[in-house]
Amino acid sequence: MGYIDYVSARSRPSEDCVVYLDHAATTPMLPEALAAMTEELGQLGNPSSLHNAGRRARRVVEESREQIAEVFGARPSEVIFTSGGTEADNLAVKGLYWARRAAALGRSAAAPRRVLATAIEHHAVLDSVHWLAGHEDAAEHWLPVDETGVLHPAALAEAIAEDPDGVALVTVMWANNEVGAVQPVTELAALARENGIPFHTDAVQAAGQLPVSFAGSGADAMTVTGHKFGGPVGAGALLLARGVQPVPVLHGGGQESEVRSGTLDAPAIRAFAVAAAVMAGRRDEEAARLGKLRDDLIAQVLAAVPDAILNGPPAGPGRLPGNAHFSFPGCEGDALLMLLDAKGIACSTGSACTAGVAQPSHVLLAMGADEARSRASLRFSLGHTSTPGDVDALGAAIGEAVQRARRAAR
Ligand SMILES: Cc1ncc(COP(=O)(O)O)c(C=O)c1O
Repeated sequence: MGYIDYVSARSRPSEDCVVYLDHAATTPMLPEALAAMTEELGQLGNPSSLHNAGRRARRVVEESREQIAEVFGARPSEVIFTSGGTEADNLAVKGLYWARRAAALGRSAAAPRRVLATAIEHHAVLDSVHWLAGHEDAAEHWLPVDETGVLHPAALAEAIAEDPDGVALVTVMWANNEVGAVQPVTELAALARENGIPFHTDAVQAAGQLPVSFAGSGADAMTVTGHKFGGPVGAGALLLARGVQPVPVLHGGGQESEVRSGTLDAPAIRAFAVAAAVMAGRRDEEAARLGKLRDDLIAQVLAAVPDAILNGPPAGPGRLPGNAHFSFPGCEGDALLMLLDAKGIACSTGSACTAGVAQPSHVLLAMGADEARSRASLRFSLGHTSTPGDVDALGAAIGEAVQRARRAAR
């Protein structure tokens, strides 16, 4: 299969996946983004080259930068293109930590060491913080969340107050990828700012479903990625407020204001920007549609499995409209996932597999769930191709699948 066929295939539901309820993992490309990418793939030119072909590619990149900036309430100069969310998170966490330390050492002052992050971050943030603690001098500090997965500003204020001058960085995701909990980012960023601490937010899951404004949030750095809202996998951005300069993770040609070296992927960047613009134009309407579908999904699952537990915040503004996440007591999440998959229903567990053994979800553990409940969890996530038929198919299949998973677990 050629690349274009592969990309086209991703934009349609595949034959062996009838009901796709895993949009939070990745969502099909929007046709507009696919068309833009396909057209651009046929063009020649490195955006850094000075000749005509290079200048044409550069124009594509700069127009895309303007579109991304407009959608996410930023200035074009604040957009640093990356290969996606993982790279942007690594650059923010490691780069801002290193920059803070370098600035302190330049003043011969004691360098701040503490990195404050919620215990429910995506692994791209979580493991970057762990890495800094294991390989550098950082001290990791995990901020607590409540039983619905929300960090309260008072908890951040308390953590900062322990030693405000010792905090290098605060990083809190805008919305959680497993349970859909939306964080009070603006209040949290204001607290960090009052104490002169850089604030990063991973807005990967929020970006396609909520009105996300970088300027309005008060954050110093924000991560977005295209494939969660109809763009291609492999294109994302770190938004950096004016004057915020992380130490680069990648060294090379000095692209992206010397912050992120590497030849810019003009086709993917163009498709990322087109997807963002299309998504932004229908976001509110789409969020309302998905919220209704999600409420129906929750009602159908609870009707079929009355002892299922809805994890995360109640349906409403505190929860991503496309997210439903349950624990099914007495089941192993992966067994249930495979039973549903056999019926053509694709969903996800939050748990990672380490050496073939299912691990409980770190998000549910941080919310106070025990290991059994954490392992018994499944996420259903909706997106732009979701229909009432998808929800009905899950409603019809979930009861029997849970019974079978329970028998298997006995
Ligand atoms: C909250 C969050 N952050 C970061 C990422 C990583 O983004 P990417 O897949 O573009 O590397 C994801 C992907 O699932 C995510 O959900």
